[in-house]
Amino acid sequence: MTRAGSVKAGVQADYGIDAPGIVAMFGLSTVLSTAGATLIGWLASPSPLIIFLVYMLSLAAVASGFLFIVMLVYARSGKFRMRDFMLDEIGFRGDERVLDIGSGAGLLLVGAAKRLTTGGAIGIDIWKASDLSNNLASTAERNIAIENVGGSAEILTADACDLPFADATFDVVLSLLCLHNIEPSERRVQACREIARTLKPGGRALIADYVPTAAYERALAASGLETEGSRRHFLVALGPMWMVAAREPG
Ligand SMILES: C[S@@+](CC[C@H](N)C(=O)[O-])C[C@H]1O[C@@H](n2cnc3c(N)ncnc32)[C@H](O)[C@@H]1O
Repeated sequence: MTRAGSVKAGVQADYGIDAPGIVAMFGLSTVLSTAGATLIGWLASPSPLIIFLVYMLSLAAVASGFLFIVMLVYARSGKFRMRDFMLDEIGFRGDERVLDIGSGAGLLLVGAAKRLTTGGAIGIDIWKASDLSNNLASTAERNIAIENVGGSAEILTADACDLPFADATFDVVLSLLCLHNIEPSERRVQACREIARTLKPGGRALIADYVPTAAYERALAASGLETEGSRRHFLVALGPMWMVAAREPG
């Protein structure tokens, strides 16, 4: 496990852009299809084929431009709104042991640590570059130091499907935008089993993702948790977002 050091005052934490390759692809597609539609419409003499081509390129420009903006708005605003919503849902006492699965740059980990007094939060991740910009353990450590939560937050390199913790370790398990990255679906079910296994009796899990979370709900219920429903939270996240809440009986 790693604890963060200190950084210069005034430096801002950076929680990255999710799926940076896809954001770049949508940005590039917007530019290229706009340029293509403009050039063809300008240079080619009108014919049904040219009109169809310009129409299709314009459609591609609008669709990719829309998705590009949605992903940037989420990265710059939606994810912070979703973090606060999830942490408010828990209603911390301050003494909880918290696990953030797929913590990336530490968004939920740091947020939870700020609400703890005597408790502690740990973030686990395998730091996949394609899932988050600058996705390194050192980025999370830096954010922990910048946000001054080194006393209650730590990170560990570990796989969600094989958590290196004893049964009934955590009061709260959180995860935002991680589980959809785990393939195939049997491994996502295994990750849900690990969540159930590591929750204390009475402990709560909130698992949010940009895909419907009903399958996670079924897997958590099959692992013995009482689920409180899988719901949409598009207005909170300013984009596609579902969340399942679950509780370990006891
Ligand atoms: C889109 S990022 C979200 C990071 C962070 N939760 C946030 O909301 O900013 C998804 C994260 O899940 C991590 N991840 C993917 N598969 C994982 C696995 N099997 N175990 C642990 N972490 C995983 C990635 O490395 C990445 O950091």
